[in-house]
Amino acid sequence: MMTTSTYRFPEGFLWGAATSAYQIEGSPLADGAGPSIWQRFAHTPGMMHDGDTGDVACDHYKRWRDDVALMGELGLRAYRFSISWSRILPDGRGRVNRKGLAFYERLVDALLERQIMPVATLYHWDLPAALDDMGGWLNRDVASWFADYATVMYRALADRVPMWATLNEPWVVAHAGYVEGTLAPGHRSLYEAPIVAHNLMRAHGAGVQAYRAAAKQRIGLVVNLEPKHTATQEEEDLLATKHADAYMNRQYLDLAMLGRDPEEMRAIFGDAWPDFPAEDYALIKQPLDWVGVNYYTRSVNKWSAKRWPVRARPVRQWNATYTETGWEVYPRGLTETLAWVTKRYGPIPLYVTENGAAFFDPPTPIDGEVDDPNRVAYYRAHIRAVHDAIAAGADVRGYFAWSLLDNLEWSLGFAKRFGIVHVDFSSLRRTVKRSGRVYAEIVRTNGASL
Ligand code: BGC
Repeated sequence: MMTTSTYRFPEGFLWGAATSAYQIEGSPLADGAGPSIWQRFAHTPGMMHDGDTGDVACDHYKRWRDDVALMGELGLRAYRFSISWSRILPDGRGRVNRKGLAFYERLVDALLERQIMPVATLYHWDLPAALDDMGGWLNRDVASWFADYATVMYRALADRVPMWATLNEPWVVAHAGYVEGTLAPGHRSLYEAPIVAHNLMRAHGAGVQAYRAAAKQRIGLVVNLEPKHTATQEEEDLLATKHADAYMNRQYLDLAMLGRDPEEMRAIFGDAWPDFPAEDYALIKQPLDWVGVNYYTRSVNKWSAKRWPVRARPVRQWNATYTETGWEVYPRGLTETLAWVTKRYGPIPLYVTENGAAFFDPPTPIDGEVDDPNRVAYYRAHIRAVHDAIAAGADVRGYFAWSLLDNLEWSLGFAKRFGIVHVDFSSLRRTVKRSGRVYAEIVRTNGASL
């Protein structure tokens, strides 16, 4: 008899792993590709930890066949990857680069051969540099540039790729790219960020519209969410927490699902928040087939006059574990987040499109093994939290580990390892970590081994 576990997942639950183009592919200018804003940012002195770049990264552009075989060995049912816009359209628009397109066609076919469902993200942060030269996300035309690029991809791959995402984490694009300046294109302007956020969502809406015209399966949006908790019941801490929640959790989903901005936006941005044309909101609010939630942590907030745009400072918890990126390990927050999305926006198929952690791993495999007990514990606890959310009524259909491979953690370079597979960045050899084996068993047993 099979052992029954309280953690068995619904039949057909989609187990996978995720990556993104610039973080793993390498060969950014190969086969006629144009440069992206990440190519430029990574080659700008002082922007990247240790001067790391995505020039080689995991060399996935050349090793994709082996990586797909590895996914097959792990028994993954789905693979979420992103498409590099400037491989497809070197100038961001106009001329299509067949060789760039062929790379993703080969990848998708290889996945399908192994019965791994391809899940494609159209935009994971690597805007073509040629479009940035015309203002990038600040230019209102970006919505139609994006829809045109998306249409090229749908025409080429929608017959084989059943699940698409328009954008990955628009909050990070606007906040880290245009407020903090820690990610490409590295701007720091309170006045640009609201425009960028708005144009990202107009592009999302136009991308969904284009999908309905060209294809018939499922399209969604991927956002990163984290519960915002208050450090005290003081009025100013409560307000800071509410603003933090509006800024990160509601800004994008309220637009996509309710067609309006959270009421707090003007208070948060002051005179930097412009009035947007009313018709934009109808474009942005397109019916979605699913929503992807990337979850890593929560934050506990105190009011702070020194922070912007939200006057909130996250405070450390004395009794908590933190990952190597300084994020509190807080599995319950994943249950809370999935339940919150369901309650606020109504029932919709949800996918945990990213979840994982960077921890100090042994730097090199020892006897062919990489033992990563903290990551194993992180995955177990968070996957249980997903199960709890399903039990509480959230329609969660799948879960993707972030990440398949150790990779370029953006401006933090190769120092922070999120993979369930270890990558030796000199030899580029891959070694499945213990977390990878544990995850494979969870996938195989549909959660029963939790
Ligand atoms: C992003 C990934 C990133 C991960 C860990 C998410 O914000 O989508 O690209 O590597 O978090 O920081």
